[in-house]
Amino acid sequence: MKKFLIVANWKLHGSINMISNFFEYMKLYTSMDLEQNIVIAPPTVYLERIYKKIEKTNIVLGAQNVDINIEGSFTGETSISMLKEIGVRYVIVGHSERRLWHHENSELIAKKIYLIKKFNLIPILCIGETKEDKKNNATKKTIIKQLNDIIAVLGSSVFQNIVIAYEPIWAIGTGLASDPKTTQLIHEFIKNYIRTYDSSISNVLVQYGGSVNPKNAKLFISQPDIDGLLVGSASLNPKEFLKIIQIAYNIYKSKNI
Ligand code: PGA
Repeated sequence: MKKFLIVANWKLHGSINMISNFFEYMKLYTSMDLEQNIVIAPPTVYLERIYKKIEKTNIVLGAQNVDINIEGSFTGETSISMLKEIGVRYVIVGHSERRLWHHENSELIAKKIYLIKKFNLIPILCIGETKEDKKNNATKKTIIKQLNDIIAVLGSSVFQNIVIAYEPIWAIGTGLASDPKTTQLIHEFIKNYIRTYDSSISNVLVQYGGSVNPKNAKLFISQPDIDGLLVGSASLNPKEFLKIIQIAYNIYKSKNI
């Protein structure tokens, strides 16, 4: 089966009740022979509760954020060693909502990636253009800048053991998903860009995110260079999320790459 990754980004959603209903429904999933291709990234406060529900399954735990310090006087923060200790395997970084609302810049994102990798966890680096960039035909320019900013701090070997999530900002939470064929070309571009930068890196997973739902998931997953999905609102509904997983499983199984 082709390697793929479906990530549920719950953002600031969830409750104790919602979590029990969600995992009651997700029990159906355990009948599929998946290999840790599903990640749930809940709010930090629920990570441990969810870990207890998934530790004997193939679902793995993701965090939505991490601090750049390991310990100390940093009120309100959570460190990478704490996340690792409670079972987190993936950490989302550079999400446009954090770049926008928390003013996270490339330098900070690079520091987070450095720490995540140092602790042998896997960063999911989100990149993508604004509506304005798209209108100005500047999608590739924006992506190159976002990648180059990270390479400038950490070198191109940063792309070993990393997942990239291409998330056009105008498609996030709007119900207006990107066109799958155009998305395929952008994913191909991202992979080629990284490869020409460093030919030794050939296995970067590139996910698509932005208004993915059970109706459009197949169109994305059928593209050769789309290696998974970062799902926001549809991942809060276990029925919808499970449908997306089933679609992914069937298609990637037949891809056999
Ligand atoms: P969405 O969010 O699926 O609700 O558009 C995706 C994301 O922001 O990761």
